[in-house]
Amino acid sequence: MIKTKVKNKLHAYEIGLEITRNCNLNCSHCLRGNTQNKTMSKEVIHEVFNKVDTITNIFFSGGEPLLAIDVIEEIIKEIKRRDIEINGFGMVTNGTVFNDKIHDVLFELYELSIDKNSCIVEISNDVFHNDSIYNFPNCEDMLRNKRKLETLVFVNKRQYIDYSNYHLLKEGRCKEGHVITKPQITLDKFKDGTIEVFNDFYVNIYGDLISSCSIAYDRQKEFKFASIFDDKEKIMSELTELYLTQGL
Ligand SMILES: C[S@@+](CC[C@H](N)C(=O)[O-])C[C@H]1O[C@@H](n2cnc3c(N)ncnc32)[C@H](O)[C@@H]1O
Ligand code: SF4
Repeated sequence: MIKTKVKNKLHAYEIGLEITRNCNLNCSHCLRGNTQNKTMSKEVIHEVFNKVDTITNIFFSGGEPLLAIDVIEEIIKEIKRRDIEINGFGMVTNGTVFNDKIHDVLFELYELSIDKNSCIVEISNDVFHNDSIYNFPNCEDMLRNKRKLETLVFVNKRQYIDYSNYHLLKEGRCKEGHVITKPQITLDKFKDGTIEVFNDFYVNIYGDLISSCSIAYDRQKEFKFASIFDDKEKIMSELTELYLTQGL
């Protein structure tokens, strides 16, 4: 029997999911802006897997992603239910939240991932995070959690970032640095209509598709080019249009 090749596939090399806007710290440099007590819904998660045919790596973004371990658990359920292959996963975390459930869910994702070297959880380490932690009465617990998290095989404590030599982004609460002004999409389009997106295919908590992952919550509307609830054809044509017109 001749198999019909599926056309118009959408492949994301790295899908960035803003799983929460909640955060337990209050870093003065935060590019997101003020914390919001909101997380990604099941409807958005399911729609992501309805619209994106193949995903190489999943990146969990926030807010503080480890405050949304239930959302990660739901994503794992979807991956298993649909029998999807995931190469790896990543996140950057402030590292101050840890418990048995976080341990078990992260290890489940690690076990599911094909390439263990592509499973990377990075703990932020800079003057802003360190200052923020010491402002909280439970800072000892936070530091204890960090030490526990650091022992997991896929967790790296980032080398200390010296932001005086590093480009800060002037977004959210941060009053100095560079401003992102244009979209950051790179993709390939093939003759059969397949689109492969190379950099972040970024989905916010509402299912908006955003052409840059490093901007404040309140600027995302400027960078929105489609919604995950749009038809797949519309998403693909908006992606192509954006790529062709962004003037890289
Ligand atoms: C937005 S945070 C979200 C993840 C987690 N809450 C954390 O802080 O690790 C992701 C990374 O962005 C960095 N970041 C925050 N504000 C920034 C800014 N204005 N410029 C450059 N990097 C920034 C943080 O230091 C952190 O390492
Ligand atoms: S940088 Fe991360 S930990 Fe700090 S306030 Fe922003 S989201 Fe929270």
